[in-house]
Amino acid sequence: MSALGELYSEIESCELCEGLARTRNKVVPGEGADTAKIVFIGEAPGFHENQQGRPFVGQAGQFLDQLLSSIGLKRDDVYICNVIKCRPPENRDPLPAEIANCQRWLDRQLELISPQMIVTLGRFSLAKFFPGEIISKIHGKERNRDGVVYFPMYHPAAALHQQSLRQTIEGDMLKIPSILAQVNAVEEESNPQQLSMF
Ligand code: URA
Repeated sequence: MSALGELYSEIESCELCEGLARTRNKVVPGEGADTAKIVFIGEAPGFHENQQGRPFVGQAGQFLDQLLSSIGLKRDDVYICNVIKCRPPENRDPLPAEIANCQRWLDRQLELISPQMIVTLGRFSLAKFFPGEIISKIHGKERNRDGVVYFPMYHPAAALHQQSLRQTIEGDMLKIPSILAQVNAVEEESNPQQLSMF
């Protein structure tokens, strides 16, 4: 079993959040390429994700698939997960204690995948990496930290509730290829053996 597969087994048996462990149907660790250069991090599983054990498979997920395809990518080319791995009942916001309990899993996922770029989807994901920042101010602007490019975006579900955000989200997504191309150009300069954009 791969290191990520072993991690999934651990996540699936997690009972740190007693309430979520009791009410969940399936744990949703995440999915995608274990060598992905881009990791997308959402908030928490919703109804459909909790049924299927897979991230972003509901309406917001369909929009995320469209966004990926707008830059020539499929789900298998990237890695998709959430800040917390179990569905909060009635889709309430994740609690600070739940986010803190789940931090270990997200940290280990990122350690194993070691992506070049982390795309945060929505305010909970943004707050994990840039606490206190406001999404309306910093969405669509990349930041470098410790050799990783962070790229905050609105959550795809925001476009479902607020039509005016749809174009903003689509426009932000279209910036990703050139940001990644820049990162790769810098890496290729320091290591000419390394090629390929995604
Ligand atoms: N919203 C999220 O943040 N994550 C999912 O997996 C689905 C919807």
